[in-house]
Amino acid sequence: MNRRELLLSAAALTLPATVARATEGRPADKGKLRILILGGTGFIGPHFLREAQARGHTVTLFNRGKRQETPTPGVETLIGDRDGQLEALKGRDWDVVIDNSGYVPRHVRLTTQLLRERVRHYLFISTISVYADLSVPGVDEDAPLKKLTDPTVEKVDGETYGGLKALCEAVVLGDFAGRSTIVRPTYIVGPGDHTDRFTYWPWRVSQGGTMLAPGTAPDPIQYIDVRDLARFVIGCVEAPTPGIFNACSPPGFATMGGLLETSRRVSGANTEFRWVDEATLRAEGLLDGPELPIWSPPSGESAGFALVSPARAVGAGLRFTPLEDTVRATLEWHRSRPAEQRDKLKAGLSREAEAALLAKLRS
Ligand SMILES: NC(=O)c1ccc[n+]([C@@H]2O[C@H](COP(=O)([O-])OP(=O)(O)OC[C@H]3O[C@@H](n4cnc5c(N)ncnc54)[C@H](OP(=O)(O)O)[C@@H]3O)[C@@H](O)[C@H]2O)c1
Repeated sequence: MNRRELLLSAAALTLPATVARATEGRPADKGKLRILILGGTGFIGPHFLREAQARGHTVTLFNRGKRQETPTPGVETLIGDRDGQLEALKGRDWDVVIDNSGYVPRHVRLTTQLLRERVRHYLFISTISVYADLSVPGVDEDAPLKKLTDPTVEKVDGETYGGLKALCEAVVLGDFAGRSTIVRPTYIVGPGDHTDRFTYWPWRVSQGGTMLAPGTAPDPIQYIDVRDLARFVIGCVEAPTPGIFNACSPPGFATMGGLLETSRRVSGANTEFRWVDEATLRAEGLLDGPELPIWSPPSGESAGFALVSPARAVGAGLRFTPLEDTVRATLEWHRSRPAEQRDKLKAGLSREAEAALLAKLRS
């Protein structure tokens, strides 16, 4: 039996006796779960919390308490650190863990070891950055994963992020064999996305004038609306659904041109798009930084980056909000942010840099 078959086999779902004991005595509230979210604040956590609560589940959050958000009334929040400060979790049991703060395998092992006999199912939020090769379209969950030259490294950066997440996955799959779900999202976007990567485009379009558009209009882009991700994740723990799932919009669902046109329609702006080809962008040093987020050249090593297959997740219930709804919700949220966040985005070209580049290209 290969790893995938093992994960999906019904036999592997049999719970150890200690797990069965840990969940004995819970209220006879059929179908309602006690969910622990490792993380639970920040971007995606609040969406998971809202979705779980809407479906009647009880949620506990665990994080360092570094975010400024107002605690949600009625939600238990445990304070600790994945790096060894787990006292608040000791002696407790839940039906399900959703781990959205695991970046380092040692940290993940600390919680899987602590909770493996106190929790029935473990869902880990990973990333499509685990894939070794995204130069080909249609990458699915069985594709080879990145391997770090030094698997003991704990510094999380652009170089190590994907390889570390692959190692985190392996920890979860080992300690929760047959009762774990690995979800591999691409760019997660929508209300609350503090990276500004997707938000930049609708916001820039809404500002009017002539704007730089990267590549060509038919270039594919791929993302997952955070609200679709939340529905999928909570569905996976309700079922529960062991296995590994890419979480991304289907190839062909969205293009760079579609994103900009949709943003123009939704915002009502009369913005003009000046499409700049890949070679020019490369010559200007704009392919590796945060200036042109979400879009990647549909060639070379990123030729398949925006064409990853979500087929398995679709089979397990992943559904997609129309692009127009995602753009509208993102713009509404962005307009409601404090001025300093709204006017100084973490991604995208500054208006000055954009104007200078467009002037240079005209001359
Ligand atoms: N954003 C994307 O586009 C994207 C794409 C693919 C995958 N992902 C994955 O999605 C997950 C969450 O992303 P996000 O954007 O929601 O992140 P985020 O906004 O940075 O939130 C991270 C959450 O984890 C908590 N946390 C972080 N480090 C912790 C630690 N050492 N101990 C305890 N709690 C800790 C944070 O709270 P405190 O800071 O208070 O501790 C917060 O609740 C990550 O696993 C990431 O790899 C994200």
